[in-house]
Amino acid sequence: MNDILLQVKDLKQYYPVTTKEQGKTFVRALDGVTFDVKRGETLGIVGESGCGKSTMGLTICKLIEPTDGQIVLDGEDITKYGRKQMREIRKKIQMVFQDPYASLNPRMSVYDIVAEPLVIHKLFQSKEDIDARVIELLRQVGLDAYHAKRYPHEFSGGQRQRIGIARALAVEPQVIIADEPVSALDVSIQSQVLNLMCDLREQYGLTYLFISHDLSVVEHISDTVGVMYLGSFVEMADKKSLYDNPVHPYTQALLSAVPKPDPRERKEKIILSGNIPSPVNVPKGCKFHPRCKYCTDICKEAVPERTQISDSHYVYCHRAKEFAK
Ligand SMILES: Nc1ncnc2c1ncn2[C@@H]1O[C@H](COP(=O)(O)OP(=O)(O)OP(=O)(O)O)[C@@H](O)[C@H]1O
Ligand SMILES: [Mg+2]
Repeated sequence: MNDILLQVKDLKQYYPVTTKEQGKTFVRALDGVTFDVKRGETLGIVGESGCGKSTMGLTICKLIEPTDGQIVLDGEDITKYGRKQMREIRKKIQMVFQDPYASLNPRMSVYDIVAEPLVIHKLFQSKEDIDARVIELLRQVGLDAYHAKRYPHEFSGGQRQRIGIARALAVEPQVIIADEPVSALDVSIQSQVLNLMCDLREQYGLTYLFISHDLSVVEHISDTVGVMYLGSFVEMADKKSLYDNPVHPYTQALLSAVPKPDPRERKEKIILSGNIPSPVNVPKGCKFHPRCKYCTDICKEAVPERTQISDSHYVYCHRAKEFAK
């Protein structure tokens, strides 16, 4: 069995837009991302608003067609798959979204929402079998059989996210891409849903791509963490290396802004100058250079190559070797 479940190679998503200054141009929302995810691994993806996290999720699931690059799932190149072929693939890869209220059809009962994928994929023939599976799925996410008759508006945010998770689980996927699954929830409810996701991962050997702007949430659930800036990764590492020894100046700045309960662990907050540039006008060289206090001439000219810090840690920064402890 192949150890690598998902391979993404130089994936690009350029949205066509029209601007006043440039006329017809592109938003480079995903600008060449390459990474692998091992079977059973959870890859956390972090970055500020607009850096392309949701675009990455949607593109990998092919809910939008990639502009360029390659997506290989479980050894199968799905990049060019059409709608019909993707139908089979959706049994392997599912998405959970941030706002369960927007992603659950308000006119469908919970039963219909959870049963829909079972019916579409013809996983069960008889009504009795579908009923039993729906109830089993609801129990697995901590809901009760009687909830099946109710409608999404009758649930709390956390419960609605459980319904979204039950629906994603219905087809027994290998990979779940969760796009900010707990960001709309209260902090206490966030940890309940995160714990549920951890339990389900154990139980089913699931592989997660877990997208969030919240570094603490990502730290809780991930094995590996990738930091995105303007459509590409600046750093990727096993969780411990990333949080203990961040190398890229952007990662260092993001982490310095995370509140730490223990005063001994508190670091001086690094304030980044300037705003994130527009993905329509991406800076030349290293995209981060206009905001980087360590910027040198080469940073303004050349796109940084990938620098390996250890087997499980790499960085895209011209000065990576210097910054690595
Ligand atoms: N359909 C679209 N057409 C044009 N531009 C788009 C479209 N969807 C997203 N964008 C742009 O692409 C960039 C990446 O957007 P995306 O939603 O992937 O970011 P994100 O990291 O998920 O942000 P957030 O944390 O706010 O959810 C942004 O500049 C956004 O404005
Ligand atoms: Mg998003």
